[in-house]
Amino acid sequence: MKPVLAITRRLPADVEARARATYDVRLNEGDAPLSRDDILALCQGAGAVLVSVGDPIDAQFIAALPDTVGIIASFSVGTDHIDLAACAARKIIVGNTPDVLTDATADIALLLILGAARRASEGEAEIRTASWSSWRPTHMMGTQVSGKKLGIIGMGRIGQAVAKRARGFDMDIHYYNRTRLSADLECGATFHDSIDGLLPHCQFLSLHCPSTAQTKGMVDAGFIAKLPDGAILVNTARGDIVRDDDLIAALKSGKLMAAGLDVFAGEPNINPAYRTLPNTFLLPHLGSATIETRNAMGFRALDNLDAFFAGKKVPFTVSA
Ligand code: DGY
Repeated sequence: MKPVLAITRRLPADVEARARATYDVRLNEGDAPLSRDDILALCQGAGAVLVSVGDPIDAQFIAALPDTVGIIASFSVGTDHIDLAACAARKIIVGNTPDVLTDATADIALLLILGAARRASEGEAEIRTASWSSWRPTHMMGTQVSGKKLGIIGMGRIGQAVAKRARGFDMDIHYYNRTRLSADLECGATFHDSIDGLLPHCQFLSLHCPSTAQTKGMVDAGFIAKLPDGAILVNTARGDIVRDDDLIAALKSGKLMAAGLDVFAGEPNINPAYRTLPNTFLLPHLGSATIETRNAMGFRALDNLDAFFAGKKVPFTVSA
């Protein structure tokens, strides 16, 4: 008999096909976000649940999860939507999908850097609203990316992939990471042993740290004040690392020239002020959204489940 697998969201067709071949799948066919109770209902009699970014896998959910569920496989590298300590207390394994989304996410970070610096939202809006009057020497001037300093907080796989791409734009890379990279991984980037030491150098700043108790709300007014005037902030990590009100105030005052944001606190109900600011370049959490990457994420999540049900070591796990 196939193990029962609850899946909270629709997955790419090839991933769903592989899941159905191996498991008795209980799928949220409608694809609307499910409440805690709806996910719990889907999990009755299941041996595993495959969840996604934004699902409320909190302590209350874990406490109510049927005993039959031995593994939660997340279709994501980030696991901030899962209470890992509550999972550990119930000996529930948590799997994630690292590595396979590195390139896609780094690409989106570069898109945000370029889009914010070159005023892409404003430019596109002119075209779409037929309000472009003419080519003119002073029209919609942005700021040059080449030759500028790019600060990166979190020099893991994605941070390094962003640095690699940014070097192609002749950017000068500075970074903060808990541990300094070896020279071959650093590739000439300048290491700062504190975030406070890094910030004054960042004409651009790209966030690549997870959302944790330490980083939640880290980008606040005091943090922003340490950036050079006219800096550009890019976030492809997690929205709650930024205090929205403080970022919005800095974008309004001109302290920051622009922000490129792919992630938001309270997604999809983002702070509405972001929508009205001309100097924001905004995407709806598309970092990993290529067919190749989403397939690879799905297959990795299924590899984790297959290993679990075969009694083998689950290859990609996270713990509290
Ligand atoms: C993840 O996997 O955590 C990403 O945010 C999805 O794009």
